[in-house]
Amino acid sequence: MNPLNHVAIIMDGNGRWGIKNKNSRNAGHKAGLKTVEKIINHSIKNKIKFLTLYAFSTENWKRPKKEITFLFQLLETFLLKRLENLNNQDIKLKIIGIKKFSKKLNQLLTLAEKKTSNNKSLQINLALNYGSKYELVDAFKKLRKNKDKISEKNINKYLQTKDIPDPDLLIRTGNTKRLSNFLLWQLAYSEIFFEKKLWPDFNEKDFNKILKKYKLIKRNFGNI
Ligand code: FPP
Repeated sequence: MNPLNHVAIIMDGNGRWGIKNKNSRNAGHKAGLKTVEKIINHSIKNKIKFLTLYAFSTENWKRPKKEITFLFQLLETFLLKRLENLNNQDIKLKIIGIKKFSKKLNQLLTLAEKKTSNNKSLQINLALNYGSKYELVDAFKKLRKNKDKISEKNINKYLQTKDIPDPDLLIRTGNTKRLSNFLLWQLAYSEIFFEKKLWPDFNEKDFNKILKKYKLIKRNFGNI
């Protein structure tokens, strides 16, 4: 059976769920946060060590201001309410992405990372203002600046995900089959599952079904 160390998730479908059920995209994001909590707890239960969640992409700034403000407010409230709890659950929080938000959120994120930095049960990498192409270009610039040799090892060294093993498994909910500028380098050999359900409808049972299927896959990394 395949070991499972790192699960990455593109949590897609909040907007559609919100419109369908409450006539409001933002209501979908609120419901999506409940799924985030379920999946965090289920990951700990399944001894998954790294969970990477795509919460906001560098392209998501194109959305209406009202939705963007709501999303960051949701994150702020979540951190204020749940940071102590995350810490008690021995969860380490790491932000991947360009950390340029309001002063208040920047401070809150830095505090959350610092407070949880020694925790061991599960590392949550929250991809916020994250874009894989930006991350790669930035890594190449650092490589050039430091006159480092171009190698896989050196590129990894300058990625935001340095010290994080590549995802074993990528799940994208919301019935859409694309990567949306997410971890393009790191997903080179990940097993990918596209799930029809919208993120707020995704639950522990759906997660389990995927984990079960993943464990039975023969991963040969190019070998036979
Ligand atoms: C994609 O669905 C989802 C997002 C851009 C935001 C993800 C946010 C959450 C799950 C809730 C907040 C999370 C935290 C950690 C505070 P979409 O809006 O693109 O859905 P659509 O394809 O139906 O429009």
